[in-house]
Amino acid sequence: MSNSGEAELLHTFKGIPFTTRSSPELLKSLDTFDAREDDVLLVSYPKSGTHWLAGVITKLYTTQVTITSPIEFGDISQLEELNKLSSKRIIPTHLDYNMLPPNFKNKKCKMIYISRNPKDTAVSMFHYYRDNPNLPTVDTWTAFFDLFLKGNVVCGSWFDHFLSWAEHEDEKNILFLFYEDMKKDLPKVVKEITLFLSLNVSDNDIQDICQKSSFSEMKNDIEKENSDPSHTVCALTSNRKLIFRKGAVGDWKNYFTPKQNIRFQETFDEKMKLSKM
Ligand code: A3P
Repeated sequence: MSNSGEAELLHTFKGIPFTTRSSPELLKSLDTFDAREDDVLLVSYPKSGTHWLAGVITKLYTTQVTITSPIEFGDISQLEELNKLSSKRIIPTHLDYNMLPPNFKNKKCKMIYISRNPKDTAVSMFHYYRDNPNLPTVDTWTAFFDLFLKGNVVCGSWFDHFLSWAEHEDEKNILFLFYEDMKKDLPKVVKEITLFLSLNVSDNDIQDICQKSSFSEMKNDIEKENSDPSHTVCALTSNRKLIFRKGAVGDWKNYFTPKQNIRFQETFDEKMKLSKM
């Protein structure tokens, strides 16, 4: 990670690096945030397919819903804005389970956690670091690989994030999804989401929604400005153009050296040995 003034782009809260787009005051106030029973949380580690999932979910509702800014984004006034919203809220977040406002847990709000092969997540995040002025500069893939593996990146360690949520896999109000399953059979995953959210959506509508949520359609929507180009569900940027890069499974093979792959696998096996998932 390089030099001058860039250290100021990140700050650490409870041991996790955040960008300055998440103010310390806001992060401190999360513990007292008031959840509503019908809130739905979209949870992810960055670059796991959050926008894809958000795109699908908003199309499933026929009633008015608002996909809000991420809960950890902005200064303390953002929490006020969230409180004022009169419509049903779909709230994105990259927070670790332990940092989630306790009220969401107590009220058993529905939460959807989307996860992705961490190797592809790392490659996607590497490009994001390169293109996103809110993040420190990384000069090479090799340098970024080391940072990612040590968890010295924004939102901290992929492993810790995943494990903090996976511990709660048996809780009925949390649905776990995988990016790779969405790539393989999107209609099947969308059906699962509708059942989880108790939404009545016909198979025809599901097919239609899946078509409109393909990578090319979503990327084109940005180019045609069919969706607001300055609204994202990621606390790290408001620029939607930065989100849609390649949308593929297995891109890591174009970046990982055999040695990096072995190192990654060793860390993965060590960290994940306690996870049932
Ligand atoms: P890549 O950088 O590998 O292309 P997030 O929304 O959590 O920031 O994740 C962004 C990643 O999801 C990017 O991965 C992006 O291309 C991919 N993505 C976004 N929309 C997608 C879609 N409709 N289908 C498949 N992948 C998509």
